[in-house]
Amino acid sequence: MNASHPSVSRRTFLKTSAGLAAGALVATHATPELLAAGATSGPHQATGTRIGEITSDSVIVWTRLTAAPIRNGTGEDFFVNIRQVSAEQLPKPSGPVDTLRGACPGAAGRVRLRYGTREDLTDALATPFVEVGAGTDFTHRFVLRGLRPGTRYFYVSESSRPGDAEPAGVVRGRFETAPAPDAAADVNFCVMTCQGYPDRGHPDGHHIYPSMLALQPQFTCLTGDLVYYDNDAPRAFTTRLARYHWERMFSLPRLLEFNRQMGTYWLKDDHDSLDDDAWPGKQMGDFTFAEGLQIFREQAPLGGGPSYRTFQWGRHLQIWLTEGRDFRSTNTIPDGPNKTIWGAEQKAWFKRTVAASTATWKILISPTPFVGPDRPTGKNDNHANAGFQHEGDELRAWFKANVPNNFFVICGDRHWQYHSVHPETGLNEFSVGSASDEHAAGSPGEDKRYHKFHLVKGGFLSASVKSHGATSSIECRLHDVHGAVVYSWQRERNVRA
Ligand SMILES: [Fe+2]
Repeated sequence: MNASHPSVSRRTFLKTSAGLAAGALVATHATPELLAAGATSGPHQATGTRIGEITSDSVIVWTRLTAAPIRNGTGEDFFVNIRQVSAEQLPKPSGPVDTLRGACPGAAGRVRLRYGTREDLTDALATPFVEVGAGTDFTHRFVLRGLRPGTRYFYVSESSRPGDAEPAGVVRGRFETAPAPDAAADVNFCVMTCQGYPDRGHPDGHHIYPSMLALQPQFTCLTGDLVYYDNDAPRAFTTRLARYHWERMFSLPRLLEFNRQMGTYWLKDDHDSLDDDAWPGKQMGDFTFAEGLQIFREQAPLGGGPSYRTFQWGRHLQIWLTEGRDFRSTNTIPDGPNKTIWGAEQKAWFKRTVAASTATWKILISPTPFVGPDRPTGKNDNHANAGFQHEGDELRAWFKANVPNNFFVICGDRHWQYHSVHPETGLNEFSVGSASDEHAAGSPGEDKRYHKFHLVKGGFLSASVKSHGATSSIECRLHDVHGAVVYSWQRERNVRA
C-alpha cells in the first residue's frame, strides 16, 4: 500500500465511505434496526439489481443472492492502480477474498420478482420462486415479457429461504419500456464508460451516477471497462478475484441506487474481459479469456443471444451495440483483409440490419472508436489504430456509402471526451470520456483536422431525440462528471414519409 488516493486523502475516504454506505442503503435493503434485531437472516441482495435489454415489450431483471445485506465495510482495502505502481507492485490480498472490503459473498436461496405499473404494486404479477446457487454465482435473471410499450413499471425483488413467510432481502426499483417502434416518441438516454475503482472520485461511487440519474434518461448504455481486472489492485488472477471486482464495484451505494431504477445496455471491453487490449486465448495468472467472457455474461443483465444486438426506441431512434472482443483477430498479426475486430458474422448482421432500418437516427454505440484520432504508437486495438486500418477503412467507407446523413458513432474506451469528424468520410464520433476525472488521460492531444471538441476530462454523454411532426431532431451533449454540459451538437432532418 504505497500510494494514496489521487483526489481524497485516505483518512477522509475511509470516514465518508463508512458513514454514507449504511444510510444510503436503508431504502432498498434491510434497515440497521432490523439487522440489530437479528430479523434478517438472509439471503440478501447486497449487489443490487440490474435492468437490461429493454424492448417495447420485454426486459431482463438481474439479481444475486448474498449472505449479508450490505457489502463488507471492513477488511483489507485497495487504493492503487497501475498508473501509480507497476503491475508487479500491485498489492495482492493477504487473506481470503470473502474478507476483503467491498466483498459480497453469495448465498443460496430463492428469489422471485413482483412487478406492475402501480408504485404500490397492488396490480403486481409475481414470477415463481427460483432457487439459485453457486453454479451461477448465486445470480438469476428474470425475463419479463408481454409488457406494455412506453410504460413505467415498478418491481420488487424478494429473496428468502424456502419455507420463510417473509422475504429476508428486498430490492425495489423501476424501469421504462421502449415506445412502440412506430411511435413518434421523444427519447432521452445516456452513455458512460471506463470506471476505475480506486480512482472513482468519491467513496460511494463515481459522480456521474447521481449526475446521470438527475437527467432522468429512459436508458443508459454502459460501454465497457466496467471493472479493471488487470489495472486495479488486486489483479484478478483467479475467477474468485474476478468476481470480487464486480462485487465491490456494483455494491457501491451510488451504483446500487442507479442500477435499481435505470434500464441499461451492457457492453464489455478489454479490462472487463481479461486485461489490456485482450483477445481470445489470452490468460492472466489462472484466469482465462474464456472465463472472462463467461463471468461478464453472468454479471451483466444479458440474454442468451449474440453479444451484438440492436434496439429500437420509437420511430426515430435505433441503436446498434457491437461486440469488440469475442471475435477479434490477435492484435499483433499484420493488418490486412482477414484481420478483424467484428468478425464476418457480426459485420454481415450489422450491414443487413442498418440497411433495413427505417429509423430517423441510427447510432452505433461501440466499446471502441472508429475515428479517434488515437495514439499513433503503442496502441493497436481499435478501428482508429493502424493495426486494424483495413477493417476500419472498409466500415467507414460502408457508412459513407449507405448511411451518409443520419448515422454516427458514440464510443467508449478512450479516457477523454471528444467530437471528431473523420476527414475522408465525414463520420461523426463522440467519445464519452472516462467515468471520473481521476481516470482521464491518454489523449495524443487536440487535432484540428478531426476535433470539433476535445477535453481530457471524465464525464458522460446524454442525447435527446425529439419529434417535431415532419422533422425530428437529435442533440448530443457531453457532460462533466457533475452533469454540467461542456459541449453540445444538434441535427434536424425530415422524417421519412
Ligand atoms: Fe478504459
